[in-house]
Amino acid sequence: MNVLVTGAGGMLATAVVPALARAGHAVTALARAELDVTRESDVRRVIVGAKPDWVCHLAAYTDVDGCESRGEHAMRVNGEGAAHVAAAAREACAAMLAISSDYVFAGDDPTPRREADAVGPVSAYGRSKLAGEQAVRAANPCHLIVRTAWLYGRGGRNFVDTIRAKALGGGPLAVVDDQRGSPTWTEDLAAALVELIARDITGTVHVTNSGDCTWHEFACEICAQVGVALDVARISSAQLARPANRPAFSVLDTSGLEPVMGRRLPHWRDALARYMAQPMAAERTQVTQGR
Ligand SMILES: NC(=O)c1ccc[n+]([C@@H]2O[C@H](COP(=O)([O-])OP(=O)(O)OC[C@H]3O[C@@H](n4cnc5c(N)ncnc54)[C@H](OP(=O)(O)O)[C@@H]3O)[C@@H](O)[C@H]2O)c1
Repeated sequence: MNVLVTGAGGMLATAVVPALARAGHAVTALARAELDVTRESDVRRVIVGAKPDWVCHLAAYTDVDGCESRGEHAMRVNGEGAAHVAAAAREACAAMLAISSDYVFAGDDPTPRREADAVGPVSAYGRSKLAGEQAVRAANPCHLIVRTAWLYGRGGRNFVDTIRAKALGGGPLAVVDDQRGSPTWTEDLAAALVELIARDITGTVHVTNSGDCTWHEFACEICAQVGVALDVARISSAQLARPANRPAFSVLDTSGLEPVMGRRLPHWRDALARYMAQPMAAERTQVTQGR
């Protein structure tokens, strides 16, 4: 198939583009400099001109705290940008994959969220991602919306690299212990996305690595896998005082994946071990807290 990818300079795209190519697809990978999704006429021209079978829309403004002060920009990229891509994909008779987030949920209910559960974002980022979902559903009936969470991987600043670097540097480490979710390796997610596309799956599906933990538990496991005995202090979200609210419980129920793919993704601890077995990129050391 011909597959066009937006946001090709990002962390998830760093895993998705090679995975699509390995599966034998012809990939047109466009970073922001090549296609700005807020420019409606460019989006239409490029996507209709490329005649793709699928458009993988990975472009997004993902700075969760930045979205609080740049709410209009977040809506322009994550809401209207998704609408432009969906409309152009429809005009090109292409299906569209859009990536959404656990942050569309309020996170005030301690049971894993299913695809059809009520949404209620508590941040500007979450509201902009929800606007994107709604725009995609309205503009292109042939869509697959995949909600995922707590991503880490090559090609982007991420929590694992940050904690690993700090652990190797001897700490100190203080990590929030009142947010629970499912850490997800971009390589495992990318493999699932390629499989879902190959099966022409449409609708809304939750895809994360299995199991769940708090950021504190995640940090402790990273230290353990690095082989560093470090006392990781527990702090609350209130103590961290970030600009954006984050859901306290943002575990996604991924049982919807079984009927369409015949399996769920591996446990997050297993994924972490496989990621940690790879060489570390020295430049990725800044603290991030998930998007
Ligand atoms: N990371 C997570 O924890 C997480 C969790 C759940 C869902 N998601 C979703 O997963 C998808 C991929 O995220 P990611 O983690 O790969 O984020 P990322 O590394 O920030 O990648 C997003 C890419 O989109 C590009 N972009 C920003 N504005 C754009 C525009 N106007 N036009 C075209 N491209 C633009 C960015 O380019 P610049 O860097 O040059 O701005 C960046 O390369 C997003 O939809 C995100 O919302 C992420």
